[in-house]
Amino acid sequence: MTIQWFPGHMAKARRQIEEKLKLIDIVIELLDARIPLSSRNPMIDEILRNKPRIVLLNKADLADPDVTNMWVKYFADDGLQALPIDASSGNNMSLILARCKEILQDKIDKQLSKGMTPRAIRALIVGIPNVGKSTLINRLAGRSIAATGDRPGITKSQQWIKVGKEMELLDTPGILWPKFEDQMVGYRLAATGAIKDEILNVEDVAFFAVKHLILHYKEAFAKRYSLEVGEVDLDNPHEVVEIMEAIGKRRGCLQSGGTVNLEKASLVILHDLRSGKFGRLSLEKP
Ligand code: G4P
Repeated sequence: MTIQWFPGHMAKARRQIEEKLKLIDIVIELLDARIPLSSRNPMIDEILRNKPRIVLLNKADLADPDVTNMWVKYFADDGLQALPIDASSGNNMSLILARCKEILQDKIDKQLSKGMTPRAIRALIVGIPNVGKSTLINRLAGRSIAATGDRPGITKSQQWIKVGKEMELLDTPGILWPKFEDQMVGYRLAATGAIKDEILNVEDVAFFAVKHLILHYKEAFAKRYSLEVGEVDLDNPHEVVEIMEAIGKRRGCLQSGGTVNLEKASLVILHDLRSGKFGRLSLEKP
């Protein structure tokens, strides 16, 4: 695999998040519900240290609900509250504040006992690219916030976005990097569209996706392409490629000479997967 993450970039991203931690009460860690661990930065515990944190499993509308429930339990066993959400439709938005208040209850109680009026909870959203950070910020803000990003040479004062009366968000989310040295992690990220198609070979990614679909979601997969999918030996690459070719034939992905263009067929399969054409599915289980 040829993906490189330059240590310098990582160090800078990390520094930026660490600076922001001083300003906030709680971190909102955004993960993709279909691939919670693969979409997570493996150094996150080290970066956030003891900062209170809530995990949001975004794009839950696309994920297998049974598997998402397993993930909620997985995180709970690890001492973290995880809440499935769907930032694009706004599902479970009101629960985010409620859960953050629960997590910070001790701190709030202390302020109350000293006769202080607790101020709005200050939060920072962090996550890898494409996980839905901007969508969530806009949804919580109830309006469109221009994606400013961190531009070199421009020192921008920190802006707070009000979420009702009880919460404020930092306007620029913390951008984390995924770690795809593990090939399976790379395939999961690519299959969900978290990393660009140019980075990995699309045929390899589609091959991985087809194996996963046959293993876990065979009925929906066969139905989508009106195929008879009998017993398939998933350890035999030829059998898997034959199925990809059959899909290519059905979808008119042909090249001169009438043979199947496997790259085109792969793009069709990946497009269908990313847009939920096989129904709700997860690519990773606890
Ligand atoms: P980022 O800031 O973390 O980089 O992610 P961003 O909000 O830009 O979201 C990346 C893509 O994920 C967007 O789609 C967005 O619509 C989609 N998305 C975000 N949250 C959800 C969700 O809960 N469910 C679903 N199904 N999709 C979600 P896009 O195709 O890049 O753009 P567009 O189609 O919205 O224009």
